[in-house]
Amino acid sequence: MALKIALSLLLGALTLAARPSQKPLPEAERTRWFRDAKFGLFIHWGPYAVIGRHEWARHRFQVPQAEYDKFARAFNPVNFNADAWAGLAREAGVRYVVITSKHHDGFSIYRSKVSDYDMEITPYAGDPFRLLADACRRQGLRFGFYHSIMDWHHPDYVPKRAWEVADPKGGNLPRFIDFMKEQLRELLTGYGDIAVVWFDGEWEHSIEEMRSDEVYDFIRKLQPNTLINDRLYKRAPGNRADFGTPEQFVPATGMQDPSGKPILWESCVTINTDSWGYNKYETEFKTERDLIRMLIEVVSKGGNLLLNVGPAPDGRIQSEFQTRLRAMGRWLKVNGEAIYETSASPFARLPFFGRATAKGSNLYLHVFQWPAGGVLRVPGLDNQALSARLLGQPAAKLPVRREGADVLISLPAAPPDEIASVVTLTLDGPPMVRPYVIRPDAQGMLRFGAESCEIETRFEQRAKKENFLGHVFVTRWIRPDDIPTWSFAVPAAGRYRVEITYGAAGASKGTGFTIAAGAAQASGAVDNTQGDWVFKTFPVGEIQLAAGEQTLQVKSAARAGVNAMNLERVTLTPVK
Ligand code: GLC
Repeated sequence: MALKIALSLLLGALTLAARPSQKPLPEAERTRWFRDAKFGLFIHWGPYAVIGRHEWARHRFQVPQAEYDKFARAFNPVNFNADAWAGLAREAGVRYVVITSKHHDGFSIYRSKVSDYDMEITPYAGDPFRLLADACRRQGLRFGFYHSIMDWHHPDYVPKRAWEVADPKGGNLPRFIDFMKEQLRELLTGYGDIAVVWFDGEWEHSIEEMRSDEVYDFIRKLQPNTLINDRLYKRAPGNRADFGTPEQFVPATGMQDPSGKPILWESCVTINTDSWGYNKYETEFKTERDLIRMLIEVVSKGGNLLLNVGPAPDGRIQSEFQTRLRAMGRWLKVNGEAIYETSASPFARLPFFGRATAKGSNLYLHVFQWPAGGVLRVPGLDNQALSARLLGQPAAKLPVRREGADVLISLPAAPPDEIASVVTLTLDGPPMVRPYVIRPDAQGMLRFGAESCEIETRFEQRAKKENFLGHVFVTRWIRPDDIPTWSFAVPAAGRYRVEITYGAAGASKGTGFTIAAGAAQASGAVDNTQGDWVFKTFPVGEIQLAAGEQTLQVKSAARAGVNAMNLERVTLTPVK
């Protein structure tokens, strides 16, 4: 080992000197590709795939090191075809790939000169990391790696797993960080341009212990343009990292630095329930509809989506992942113009079920539910609207008219894509919008439809909006922390009758809810509508509203695992 390290230090110094590493780009340009790419593929792969039960299997099953090593030695991806993986990534429409160089188990899926716990101990002769790096470049994809700081194998790493080591002392963290740097050197000097270094497993140490600044500068010296994620800095606000990493959820309003300025971020999400590594017996996968809409939502909030696959130990990517990735690619082939190189939606909320993105003078309206009456309302636009078209149907111009500050677009009878159809609205310049606020209609009534709420949440697997047969509703509402929220304004104080419309059956009955409008509140309990998709309207009392702009929220006392209700809308009707 010591000899290996000395040798590698020498080699490292040589490669560093010999390698005509990246020309440093000006700071503002360094992140441009990431800003434009929007969609990446995450790959978790290593000996845990042999077990086929989550990448934390060694910890969760408390597998002793010697036992686990048997799985590591059995890791033999005979069916691994790097070109097939990169081809699939390309077909999916991702622009970059991030693969685990080393996960928490400490095993390196490349040929490391400073570690004996790598491909060397497997029957497989190649270096999967190198093969994939090369294949990605052939496909025009950027390539980066995930690297775990926590290491359950390295003798110097502390803390040890308490369930495994009786006296969890020993180890030498400073020496471990030296080792980590040598692995980073190998990865950053031996495999061409590295787009991203994606740290994880940071929670056992402070920024000082991890020597984050030193590691950061070290990486930048080897590859000045590489992007570094925020876990090296424990996701601390205002850190030096290039982007934030929300895990398994989409932040309701994107991400901002402590001063409120938007920052780059990337939601990483599994296609299956929650296993990043291969899970042989998984039966639940997000639908292509959920995945496409999630990509759109992420992009409309200024982020990237890093969608994960955990390949099987033999090197194959299971068909459930392949079909979904290909479906996303097909959608992107038609609608990619509204995703790549766009910026976040200029609207915080919209009156229809869908999302918006923007590029130059184009506003892209991603419509998930064709609005009743076939008219799409684009609220509060201070531009001139020049023309509207559906992506994929460039010849057909859609009629556009104005109603006050709003632009109304007449849509054809049926949506070209049931998941999301994109209308390009071309303006006379970059969009200038007024915040969308719900106002009383001609009868003084206020309507809060599920389509126009934003769901605030702090959790993974949050409540989501769905639509079927003309209904748009909030569903999978299993946590009280998920709070549908609207903005509205009333010109004068007044009394209102509150009504709520939902579908609910079975266990939902009795779930308490509160409708909070400004300072007023009305509460009720969910009734049984005899079907989740049988929508019925119930009175919830009366409230007194103050004049002015305010928010309306529906809070539920959802119990874990039970959908509170399928919420379609709340209405406030003036009491005469
Ligand atoms: C979590 C998991 C880890 C996975 C990572 C991806 O930190 O513990 O296994 O690699 O999420 O973001």
